[in-house]
Amino acid sequence: MSEVLLELKEIRKEYQLRQPLVQRLRREPKRSVVAVDGVSLAVPKGAVFGLVGESGSGKSTLAQIMVQLIRPTSGQLCFRGEDVLGLNGAGAKAFRHGVQMVFQDTGSSLNPRKRVGRTVAEALAARGATSAELPRLLDRVGLDVTLAGRFPHELSGGQRQRVGIARALAMAPELLVADEPVSALDVSLQGQIINLLQELNAELGLTIVLISHDLAVVARVCSALAVMSHGQVVEEGIPQQVLRSPQHAYTQSLLAAVPRGLDGRRRADRTTPSPSLSP
Ligand SMILES: Nc1ncnc2c1ncn2[C@@H]1O[C@H](COP(=O)(O)OP(=O)(O)OP(=O)(O)O)[C@@H](O)[C@H]1O
Ligand SMILES: [Mg+2]
Repeated sequence: MSEVLLELKEIRKEYQLRQPLVQRLRREPKRSVVAVDGVSLAVPKGAVFGLVGESGSGKSTLAQIMVQLIRPTSGQLCFRGEDVLGLNGAGAKAFRHGVQMVFQDTGSSLNPRKRVGRTVAEALAARGATSAELPRLLDRVGLDVTLAGRFPHELSGGQRQRVGIARALAMAPELLVADEPVSALDVSLQGQIINLLQELNAELGLTIVLISHDLAVVARVCSALAVMSHGQVVEEGIPQQVLRSPQHAYTQSLLAAVPRGLDGRRRADRTTPSPSLSP
């Protein structure tokens, strides 16, 4: 598992903010936001790589760079050891197929006017596969085939997220970047979707980058973990290590916010009934 599939080197992303007209006329300097500030990460092949961090820490920006929805301001991105940012033509197309993304908000990432079966079938066609694969693919993500004829709004949130995953799988990717795939779902559904991702990792050998602001969600399933704060990676390692002895104050605060313990002791503390609640 030591082979690196995706490597980020000193990635930096600065967004230029739109200037109001008055400021432009006054020729005031342009304002910008540094969303990602020199991030270097290596995602091992076959891993479930957890990326956690508070809101605004740059996770989604980094995710979009990983799948090349946006270009970094500077830095290097290598997929299977090959520099991706310099690719064009066939090489760029192969990368776009090999690396897929699952979004938090299925409401806007699925076309509301298309039946979901067609959405997934179009992804199959883009890879040159026929829609004969559709039933098997839907079954793989736990969707009944009869749901293929429905529109996104006729499905539950969990079902819509499964459609999003099926659409990504239709491209037969090597890497799946899931940006907060469960944070819009009920807690009971969250576990199901996380389990599905874990199965896809185990059965298909799919490498997954799982992004969340919830350490508890990520720590349970990932084999490697990076913690982001203010655009930088402040901690990195195997989850047990990071959880047992968090080095960074921010990770400690994340850990303190985990409601149900990740180690036995913490859980025992929490479940000890309070005397005032005794009958
Ligand atoms: N298109 C954009 N233009 C300007 N600034 C942006 C843009 N997208 C993100 N930002 C800024 O970049 C920073 C990082 O945002 P990003 O969405 O990557 O964070 P995040 O960790 O995904 O947060 P969340 O957990 O809320 O999704 C924030 O300060 C945000 O305001
Ligand atoms: Mg985000």
